[in-house]
Amino acid sequence: MTEHTNPTAKLEIDGKTYELPIIEGTQGDRAIDVRALRQNTGLVTYDPSYGNTGSCTSNITYINGDKGTLWYRGYSIDDLAEHCTFLDVAYLLVHGFLPNRKERANFSQLMNTHSMLHEDMRHFFNLFPEHAHPMAMLSAMVVTLSTFYPEMVANPDESIDITVTRLLSKIRTIAAFAYKKMKGHPIVYPRKDLSYCANFLNMMFWTPVNDYKPDPVIVKALNQLLILQADHEQNCSSTVVKAVGSSGANLYASISAGVSALWGPLHGGANQAVIEMLESILSDPTLTVQKVIERAKDKDDPFRLFGFGHRVYRTYDPRAKIAKKICHTIMTHLGVKDSLLDIAQELEAAALADPYFQQRHLYPNVDFYTGLSYRAIGIPTNMFTVLFAIGRLPGWIAQWLEMRDGTEHRIYRPRQIYVGPDQRKLDKNWIQ
Ligand code: SDX
Repeated sequence: MTEHTNPTAKLEIDGKTYELPIIEGTQGDRAIDVRALRQNTGLVTYDPSYGNTGSCTSNITYINGDKGTLWYRGYSIDDLAEHCTFLDVAYLLVHGFLPNRKERANFSQLMNTHSMLHEDMRHFFNLFPEHAHPMAMLSAMVVTLSTFYPEMVANPDESIDITVTRLLSKIRTIAAFAYKKMKGHPIVYPRKDLSYCANFLNMMFWTPVNDYKPDPVIVKALNQLLILQADHEQNCSSTVVKAVGSSGANLYASISAGVSALWGPLHGGANQAVIEMLESILSDPTLTVQKVIERAKDKDDPFRLFGFGHRVYRTYDPRAKIAKKICHTIMTHLGVKDSLLDIAQELEAAALADPYFQQRHLYPNVDFYTGLSYRAIGIPTNMFTVLFAIGRLPGWIAQWLEMRDGTEHRIYRPRQIYVGPDQRKLDKNWIQ
């Protein structure tokens, strides 16, 4: 980060001029540094939902919303999705560099060694009601890991590496166990001979009566889908993970909070909402693509076109482009014909041609096509956001570590502008 001695931003308040430093990132993004604003002027900034507020400087992920580019630690998402495994990208995000052959083998071995859950955790799954949403189970079981591995609470600095390893490895097992609970099937343990994603697919789909074998094409596609979702700088759930961690709470508790934030349909839950939206069009003959577009444009209708729009991208989300290709690859390979894909492509074309969407720079985002791929693989709709969480975990961890180790680390505590009642006396007889 370069801090220019000039230019600065000049602010005039009540006839007095204040100069605020302008900081600039390595790719030219600039910010007004307001860290001394309140101390010097007595005023705070006002930016609900933080649309104009930089919460930190970061070395991890760079998004250019105008060009539609995305880099993890300087590598483009296209290169990473094409040439790396998800574990390579998880290592890159957490450590800051891609693993060499030895580091990659060691990391993969660690993932296998720590892939099991404590046997007592199995019983927790039986206590959830059968209709329990897997995101609720995931959030609950992640924070429960802190009770089985209390060292992260007692000695956070010494145990951070093993905690990162346990989280990255065990999130798959928790997700698969949650799925088996919903299906009423016996749980399937991880195997030492399978890679990260193949192990997850095996835990999901193997049963005593079907000798499921992970398909290499599907394993590669899952690696790519998880890579697409691995980090996205200061999004809602990453901000929550960092806010919880900023209080000194342990990494398990921070990640559990991030899972809950991701669940919302405006965030990671959109991949489930996209499929439900497409299914409603398929099942209701009166609900045409054009009618859905009109509803999305209607200010009096809270409905939004799920999988469309983004706070940062003003053009096509680069992840959506790759996800669309992956979707076609999976369906072609499996010989799947999904009418929802036809509807999705029709909806995309209609929205992109509509001035409302064009004027607001609304394009497909990462969630528009990922759900269709998961559906083709056989993953149920309510598990899609769980898959997003598995993908996003290394990004959450990297962001949490950068917050914890960074020089900017202070507890998150925004200010406000109070617009409530003036002070008033309490009438002793207020209860009649
Ligand atoms: C993710 O932050 C991240 O990086 C998130 C993410 C990640 O990897 O972490 O990329 C993952 O969460 C992707 C987004 C998934 N959500 C959806 O697909 C839900 C549908 N999208 C919208 O709800 C919306 O686009 C958001 C939530 C994604 C962004 O909302 P913003 O930035 O607050 O935008 P906005 O609501 O201020 O919209 C600006 C205008 C408004 O119209 P006007 O008031 O200017 O007339 O665009 C309209 C909105 O009504 N608009 C939409 C729309 N998205 C925005 N209108 C219809 N359908 C939509 N999808």
